[in-house]
Amino acid sequence: MTRHFLRDDDLTNLEQREVLALALAAKRDRLSLRPLEGPRTVAILFDKHSTRTRVSFAVGVAEMGGYPLIIDASASQAGRGESIEDTARVLDRQCAAIVWRTFGQSNVERMAAVSRVPVINALTDSFHPCQVLADLMTVAEERGGIGALPGTKLAYFGDGANNMAQSYMLGGALAGMSVAIATPPSHQPDPSIVAAAHELALENGGVVEVTADPLAAIAGADAVATDTWVSMGMEGEASERSTPFAPYRVTQDLMSRAGPGAIFLHCLPAYRGHEVAPEVIDGPATRVWDEAENRLHAQKALIAWLLEQS
Ligand code: CP
Ligand code: NVA
Repeated sequence: MTRHFLRDDDLTNLEQREVLALALAAKRDRLSLRPLEGPRTVAILFDKHSTRTRVSFAVGVAEMGGYPLIIDASASQAGRGESIEDTARVLDRQCAAIVWRTFGQSNVERMAAVSRVPVINALTDSFHPCQVLADLMTVAEERGGIGALPGTKLAYFGDGANNMAQSYMLGGALAGMSVAIATPPSHQPDPSIVAAAHELALENGGVVEVTADPLAAIAGADAVATDTWVSMGMEGEASERSTPFAPYRVTQDLMSRAGPGAIFLHCLPAYRGHEVAPEVIDGPATRVWDEAENRLHAQKALIAWLLEQS
């Protein structure tokens, strides 16, 4: 059966641990994973902008012996209305896997429903599961290994309805972590995702909390995360998206209330002075550059694992 990775809970707890272990091994020995030797091609599709995702998938595929075929929507027939299903039927006969950054989650679901090769979500409006794999890897490195993830607290501040918040809830709960989402009542995560995250937390020994109170969320946090207040596709609402999130800005004062040795995470790109104070993202707690590098290792592991399973 072809395995896809469309949302964080497409892996079980055990499978997530396997991917993270492979990612840590791939980081230690950069050219150890070679499932794409040939070279086999991975199609990497972008309907939205990207720096990290584009670079890390391209470099990762190349390092695994493969060829990264990057296709921007503006240059493809899909961008002129060719159907997702017809695109999938063309790609899966020639490529080993399909990576796609797009808008609606239903787009990647439609691609996966037809594709006979793994489809990987490289960010949708709903989830950013590859980023959260990299973030969990970064937390694991900091805390002494994957075994330390259960019980570790990650607190996220800002837009609770965006892809990062929703992926943290699912991915963190799956790992048995305690995940707190601090967000205003006006920007709550999708209730069905909150329910799924509670279910995962119950199964895996984690806790998920959505709160409007930043001080409740920061208490005991081992990792503090935020994201832009204006996600891609929301540029038209930018002027209305500062006031509600201002109380959730990650400042040095907020960081000082976290647990001892707490680290700061941000998927990037960051907007200093908005969601995060410069002294936090550029200060001693920051792990954002490790986090960005870990996209490479986590995605190589994910591709190798999905190909092995499919
Ligand atoms: N974090 C992340 O996905 O960055 P890009 O938008 O640059 O790919
Ligand atoms: N929430 C952000 C993440 C960017 C990597 C966005 O969707 O634009």
